[in-house]
Amino acid sequence: MPLTAFKSPVQNNVQNKAPLGVKPLISEPLILGIESSCDETAASVLKRNKDGSVQILSSIVASQDEEHAPFGGVVPEIAARAHMQKLDIIIERAVTEADVDYKDLSAVAATSGPGLIGGVITGLLSAKGLAMSLDIPLIAINHLEGHALSPRLAGACEFPYLLLLISGGHTQLLSVKGLGDYQRLGSTVDDAAGEAFDKTAKVMGLGFPGGPNVERTAQKGNPKAVALPRPFKGKDHADFSFAGLKTAVARAYDASEKTPLAKADIAASFQQAVCDVLTERTGKAMTMFRKEAGSGPQRFVIAGGVASNTQIRTALDKLCAENNFTLLAPPLKYCTDNAAMIALAGAEHYMRANFDSYDVKARPRWPLDAVSAKNNPASGFGKRGPKS
Ligand code: KG4
Ligand code: ZN
Repeated sequence: MPLTAFKSPVQNNVQNKAPLGVKPLISEPLILGIESSCDETAASVLKRNKDGSVQILSSIVASQDEEHAPFGGVVPEIAARAHMQKLDIIIERAVTEADVDYKDLSAVAATSGPGLIGGVITGLLSAKGLAMSLDIPLIAINHLEGHALSPRLAGACEFPYLLLLISGGHTQLLSVKGLGDYQRLGSTVDDAAGEAFDKTAKVMGLGFPGGPNVERTAQKGNPKAVALPRPFKGKDHADFSFAGLKTAVARAYDASEKTPLAKADIAASFQQAVCDVLTERTGKAMTMFRKEAGSGPQRFVIAGGVASNTQIRTALDKLCAENNFTLLAPPLKYCTDNAAMIALAGAEHYMRANFDSYDVKARPRWPLDAVSAKNNPASGFGKRGPKS
């Protein structure tokens, strides 16, 4: 990749472009990543090597589980306050652990959306302050793009690939054709998969965060014990729906004896239902993906917090084997929210001199694939609109 000059504000037709003036790009940049879009306060320092591989020099994640646990879910005001209290310390730790100096940083990349607006603003403001004071570029990252590129934290992952992004706020199937080139093949019309795990855990009093607790409880249960729906099964599209399943679980729990065994059976049956839905819908998306990508071997990537579920990973691995796809996934600790994936996305944008203005805005909603977010009717309904 040839060294490029920073684009001036005039070239970019944007005021306050960061940084002002022209500097050569660093061929092996050191990027500070900041993540604060939900309930993890995270910072990471990552180096991008000339060959495109990356070294994660530090990745610090401070979970807010304790703060939100009494409420059985993330409380936005508490999240924003916790980010404010922890962010400086976490950034300092990331820089110290990476054994670098602030002046060595080439750019600051921060999640600028989508997410809980208070948290996003907190992280973005810290990034702006740092970038301005160090006179280095600011890179505003779409949190979903961080997840989409996260398998690259573990090694090479060539474009194109089919991506299943399954987290607490999102459930989407995307064709990832290149950096910034995403086509949505399907998405949830109501709740996200992680949300269904969290609500199920809340209803059954399993504690927060829901996903790992449901998975643990399910280990001792019978996945066939309770009949639950598989929304959209057999439909000729790749969209998802989890609201009906969530309600069915709540009803089943109400009607149960609420013993540890009953809880284990409901958790196992719920997890099996989510697993079946994810594999069946992904199967449809594989067919859609093949229309452009062809019949040869293809790559399939899973990312997001729900991708750390072992049963779901195993089922998707089997689906891949049956359909001539290779499964690629970030290591477990990079499935859930982290700043290394934000730094990685930042590094890729840095190499293309895709910098942002110091007055770039935080965005509570920010579809990764703007075109299909607009055109895909599945994104248009649901209580809170698209999960993007
Ligand atoms: O990617 P993430 O950390 O945050 C968002 O961007 O939303 O994902 C968090 C979600 C939560 O809903 C959590 O319950 C779910 O991922 N999760 C799991 C597991 N670990 C985390 N869901 C199912 N099984 C797990 N082991
Ligand atoms: Zn996430």
